[in-house]
Amino acid sequence: MVNSLDLGLKGKVAIVAGGGGDLKGIGNGRAASILLAEAGAKVIVVDKDLSLAQNTVNMIKERDGEALGIGADLTKANECKKVVEFSLDNWGRLDILDNNIGIASKLSVVEETEEHWERVMNINLKPMFLMSKYAIPAMINSGGGGSIVNISSISATRPKGLTSYSASKGAVLSLSQAMAVDHGKDGIRVNCILPGPVYTPMVYSDGMSKSQRSQRQNASLIELEGTGWDIGKAVVYLCSEWARYVTGHLMVVDGGCSLSAKPRG
Ligand SMILES: NC(=O)c1ccc[n+]([C@@H]2O[C@H](COP(=O)([O-])OP(=O)(O)OC[C@H]3O[C@@H](n4cnc5c(N)ncnc54)[C@H](O)[C@@H]3O)[C@@H](O)[C@H]2O)c1
Repeated sequence: MVNSLDLGLKGKVAIVAGGGGDLKGIGNGRAASILLAEAGAKVIVVDKDLSLAQNTVNMIKERDGEALGIGADLTKANECKKVVEFSLDNWGRLDILDNNIGIASKLSVVEETEEHWERVMNINLKPMFLMSKYAIPAMINSGGGGSIVNISSISATRPKGLTSYSASKGAVLSLSQAMAVDHGKDGIRVNCILPGPVYTPMVYSDGMSKSQRSQRQNASLIELEGTGWDIGKAVVYLCSEWARYVTGHLMVVDGGCSLSAKPRG
């Protein structure tokens, strides 16, 4: 039994896939990395370039947390295997995996190119499969169960177009529940988060007008704009002892946007 302020994360080892970023912005992966470390986990921050991962590691260390960075292209099986081995070599175990990486798309099925469809599927779905493939045996060998969180989107269930993105995120829901069914007996919980519009570098780096931003904000029933911290806190909850009876869950974190008929930018 954990006490009321202990999330049961002390000494756990977590991999956050896509936890890096530039020097300032707070994306969903960076926020989850920082919050997991603040809750006592040792965090391996993975990003496609080591320098992006290292920026987040530095932010964690400034807060007296424990973290290591690694650069890897998680669309490649050998790179995913390398990341899991990095965890075992450095900290001797693995307990948590936050599968966070994803890219956007814009077009309808008629406008979408085959090349971009394949790129979206390759980045939004394949790394979740590959990282889980190598992480689950490592979690089982670590002997303490495990927790995996896959990041989908409300575009999976309430699409606003964005065809290839919506399709890839829909597949993430099924993947998460299939993994939960297969690996519950191994003590591994698998859950999925469906964020609504969140103000992160991925969405504002191509530019966002004031009106687009307020449209995203006003789509929420409570007129709040989501941040990476909102998603990071949901990741921490799902990975914690407090969620020990929660698996196969699809958690919407969107300020009620998916219940609102308002356009969300
Ligand atoms: N921002 C939103 O409004 C929003 C809404 C719904 C869902 N989401 C989902 O949340 C997740 C995170 O989004 P975010 O906007 O917070 O981004 P983020 O800031 O967490 O960045 C994702 C990171 O993934 C990294 N990455 C991309 N391809 C990679 C690869 N092949 N190998 C390793 N790393 C790679 C990028 O470099 C980037 O640093 C995504 O899956 C996204 O689809 C975001």
